Amino acid sequence: MHSDGVQGVVALVTGANRGIGLSIVETLLQHGAGKVYTAVRALDKATALVEKYGNKIVPVLIDVTEPETISAAARQCQDVNFLVNNAGVLSSLTPFSDRAIESLQYELDVNVFGLIRMARAFSPVLKSNGGGVFIQLNSVASLKSFPEFTTYSASKAAAYSITQSLREILAEQGTRVLSVHPGPIDTDMGNEAGLSEIAEPAEVVSDAIIDALKSEDFHVFPDTLARKVGIVYQTFARDIIEADLMEQNAH
Ligand SMILES: NC(=O)c1ccc[n+]([C@@H]2O[C@H](COP(=O)([O-])OP(=O)(O)OC[C@H]3O[C@@H](n4cnc5c(N)ncnc54)[C@H](OP(=O)(O)O)[C@@H]3O)[C@@H](O)[C@H]2O)c1
Repeated sequence: MHSDGVQGVVALVTGANRGIGLSIVETLLQHGAGKVYTAVRALDKATALVEKYGNKIVPVLIDVTEPETISAAARQCQDVNFLVNNAGVLSSLTPFSDRAIESLQYELDVNVFGLIRMARAFSPVLKSNGGGVFIQLNSVASLKSFPEFTTYSASKAAAYSITQSLREILAEQGTRVLSVHPGPIDTDMGNEAGLSEIAEPAEVVSDAIIDALKSEDFHVFPDTLARKVGIVYQTFARDIIEADLMEQNAH
């Protein structure tokens, strides 16, 4: 058992049944998490995790597009002090695709409104448990639009923008916010986006989150492509994104 920022935490991970979410659940347990609420869209999707890890896994129902599932989960999971909003969807569409607008509406519902709904429901829970951590799965596509999945990139840019505000707002209640920006990762989403040839394993993301907890970082750039972006972005992140521009310009 490791002793780091994860020892004994009570975590909740959305989209916990596969891909990056599943890897985060398993990595948290390997690093000593006391309990993980695995938020899934149907409870039986977490059966394999319960069979593997026993009562450290508590499946809960969350569809981030259905606010009532989120509020019910927040009532049920009053001891959460480590929240990972990982659930996300991607469509491979350019702005000229017939379905671009309806697809963006769906991606906004899951990737952006889902984040707002999760933050609203769980911030009071985190506060009542001493502040804790709120981790949002954003993307390299939050910083750069990829034409082959333009609508997804737009939704991830919006989610990143909201994450920046959450960092400042939730600091007041002692909640640390992390914005995670993977590049191509070997999951169903990565494969459906045609990224399998350059994708890296999901563990690269979950391990980078564990490392980031030992630092003061807000941004997490886990894989090779993401780190390349992160290095160039570093100065802008420090001097603009993480700086208090209002304070600096006050007279
Ligand atoms: N893979 C990449 O290359 C990559 C790169 C950068 C960022 N990301 C981000 O990382 C996160 C995880 O991606 P992934 O690659 O692991 O995706 P994935 O393999 O497609 O898995 C997506 C997960 O989100 C869940 N989900 C989808 N819609 C949901 C909803 N409305 N409510 C609750 N859960 C929902 C899915 O549940 P079901 O099984 O029920 O569908 C599944 O557990 C996403 O936010 C994604 O944008 C991924």
